[in-house]
Amino acid sequence: MPSIIVIGTQWGDEGKGKIVDLFASEAEMVVRFQGGNNAGHTLVVDGEKTVLHLIPSGILHRGVHCVIGNGVVVDPEVLLEEIRVVQEKGRDPERLSISDKAHLILPYHKRIDQLREEKRGRKIGTTGRGIGPAYEDKVGRMGIRVGEMIEPDLFRRRLQEVLPEKNLYIEKILDGRSFRFEEILETYAAYGERLKSYVRDTSSLVGDLVRQKRRVLFEGAQGTSLDVDHGTYPYVTSSNTVAGSACIGTGIGPTMISDVIGVCKAYTTRVGSGPFPTELKDEIGRRLQEGGDEFGATTGRPRRCGWLDLLLLKHAVRTNGLTGLVVTKLDILSGLDPVKVCVGYRSNHRQDDGEPVYESMPGWKEALSGIRDLKKLPKNARDYLARIEKEAGVPLILVSVGPSREDNILLRNPWRSA
Ligand code: IMP
Repeated sequence: MPSIIVIGTQWGDEGKGKIVDLFASEAEMVVRFQGGNNAGHTLVVDGEKTVLHLIPSGILHRGVHCVIGNGVVVDPEVLLEEIRVVQEKGRDPERLSISDKAHLILPYHKRIDQLREEKRGRKIGTTGRGIGPAYEDKVGRMGIRVGEMIEPDLFRRRLQEVLPEKNLYIEKILDGRSFRFEEILETYAAYGERLKSYVRDTSSLVGDLVRQKRRVLFEGAQGTSLDVDHGTYPYVTSSNTVAGSACIGTGIGPTMISDVIGVCKAYTTRVGSGPFPTELKDEIGRRLQEGGDEFGATTGRPRRCGWLDLLLLKHAVRTNGLTGLVVTKLDILSGLDPVKVCVGYRSNHRQDDGEPVYESMPGWKEALSGIRDLKKLPKNARDYLARIEKEAGVPLILVSVGPSREDNILLRNPWRSA
């Protein structure tokens, strides 16, 4: 049953886009199951950079069917723009399917998200894309789904039901400008018309393929510690980012999954607010930021940088049930000596107020990007990987040593062993 989930083990930006793109070359289908265009997945193909926010990272491979599952929140304006970019690159968006059950991001979600962030004392540092308010409406049973957008009469009725309450909230509580009913109606009717050929019951589509034991790749967005239940609440995103979410966000059962691959950056980064025990506000932090080009793919914000936190990784191993580990951006650590990993927290052993306990390891100077064989890595880099693998208790399957598709050391192909 070769169906694989790829998950971020930290606070997002681990380099999942590249890994999904790599494994997608042998997949039949790539499926997004949570989050929305708060995600930014960067792909470098033939030296050309593409950043995707909604369409699964498999779209740059010919013949791969890409699915946006029911668990995703969809901003149709962003999706249409992404379809345009993909078409411009000569790729075929006909192989894209969007779940009729996926919830829409509406203009009032974005305004609520932004106004709340402006006014909030304790800022979350959201991407301002309306993700949280859209998920709130979903569980509050006030959401409008993609399948409703493509039926103009149904969309009109649903908007009539919810807009007055949203406008009242924006005006009276957030001191903001309300929305005209006709304006949203017209805009979304036009989006619906342009998107309707992509909309279908994706649960059956994915389920059928999985049952036929064909290769399906589930692409996680954000990272484990941004999970609304298992992350550093309230400094989290509004969806479940852990592997279990792949089942809920696509409509297949947990027995259908064969492998869960965790992607872990060789150091740690975080965008937005919230606890980050191993954060480095010094020269080393700045070096990681510049060397690793650590600027948000969605908002352009500089990412906070720090040493690798092995406790965070162990937490991800448990909450996702990882079966394989990918370490990315090992090349960025070249030239740092020593390199440190966090192996515990001093006070209360809690992630949000713990002072990190570090283990120092000797660094290496060599550039790594041309290396394709683990044995050819400097000994100290191998020892660093071995330390991570030992602590995680999960076998390393791939090491990424540069941004391009080719810059990898592959130890196990998850499709072959699945
Ligand atoms: P939201 O998802 O826009 O509500 O933002 C909530 C938190 O999640 C903020 O700290 C964001 O910076 C963070 N976040 C959301 N999406 C991503 C992502 O794709 N990578 C890294 N951080 C993210």
